[in-house]
Amino acid sequence: MRTQVAIIGSGPSGLLLGQLLSRAGIDNVILDRASRAHILERVRAGLLEEGTVGLIEQCGGASRLHAEALTHDGISLAFDGSNHRIDLHALTGKRVTVYGQTELTRDLMDHRQAAGGQSVYEAADVLPNDIDGDRPHVTYRSGGVTARLDCDFVAGCDGFHGVSRACVPPSALTTYERVYPFGWLGILADVPPADRELIYAYHPRGFALCTMRSPQRSRYYIQCGLDDGSLFLVGDPAHIVPPTGAKGLNLAASDVHYLISALREFYAEGSRAGIDAYSARALSRVWKAVRFSWSMTLMLHQFPENGAFGRRMQEAELAYLVGSRAASAALAENYVGLPY
Ligand code: APR
Ligand code: PHB
Repeated sequence: MRTQVAIIGSGPSGLLLGQLLSRAGIDNVILDRASRAHILERVRAGLLEEGTVGLIEQCGGASRLHAEALTHDGISLAFDGSNHRIDLHALTGKRVTVYGQTELTRDLMDHRQAAGGQSVYEAADVLPNDIDGDRPHVTYRSGGVTARLDCDFVAGCDGFHGVSRACVPPSALTTYERVYPFGWLGILADVPPADRELIYAYHPRGFALCTMRSPQRSRYYIQCGLDDGSLFLVGDPAHIVPPTGAKGLNLAASDVHYLISALREFYAEGSRAGIDAYSARALSRVWKAVRFSWSMTLMLHQFPENGAFGRRMQEAELAYLVGSRAASAALAENYVGLPY
């Protein structure tokens, strides 16, 4: 199969891009590893800026949004026992639109289907190839059969955990990261919203957000501790590593090892000891693997800032590594996986 732009991911970004390309007469195909039904079951964000609504209008898929979405002129910041309204419209002349991402995705999917756009769902092992060369293409499996989509460009619209980000050479990617020391618990409830507009609350017990999906359906978010409650992060949501050390999947598996033993202990003995220790136990192994991925990445990649000295150090490290049994053993024991 051949197209002009291969789009990986059928979320809002992939669907918007696909529709806008089609309207510009540029052929495109969307590939997503999930099924259409699965994508439409996910509860996601829900607040649209005017620019976003404008893009949806340009796609021609905004009629249900205009009929059903809620338009808000302001928000409230709640602290010290009172609500302080910020009048967005008075201050900027603009409004915000409350419309669930799931609904938006459904509209864009329906619109694409009606317009005859091509999408492949449940595409397994989607992989961009030759992105630096003359023949970019995406390979994937569909219904057990391997397929190839030749294209001019690949657009990676597959989220933070998708395959596209992992295909960017580390030397071309700069990550600026702020890791927040808490998580958020989101609740969707079939009850009328707490207020007509959104409330962002600052409180000694933590942040809370009251938002909504409709006059009958509320969405709430509260700040929670990373090791609080009954949410356990396993694998990538907790830690990301570059592909060099082959640790991503294996760290997800070792997290499962610690979590399963904690849960078994909980159900067999009623003890929370393993659960309370889960993060510390899993992370003690994770950090060693993060260090290993980092050292392999430093040793094997071209970094723009390296200079001649840096390259010499890499060459010397490689030569030492292959010439020394002790250094080879250090690589090997990390590569095959440190003990659980
Ligand atoms: N191969 C193919 N498809 C994949 C792969 C993969 N390896 N990994 C992820 N996908 C698909 C997912 O199944 C999903 O349908 O990519 C799609 C990404 O969609 P979203 O996560 O909704 O991302 P995006 O369209 O960029 O959504 C915009 O809204 O809720 C916010 O911050 C959130 O980034 C998200 C944004
Ligand atoms: C929402 O899900 O409705 C939502 C999420 C984050 C916000 C605002 C709204 O800041």
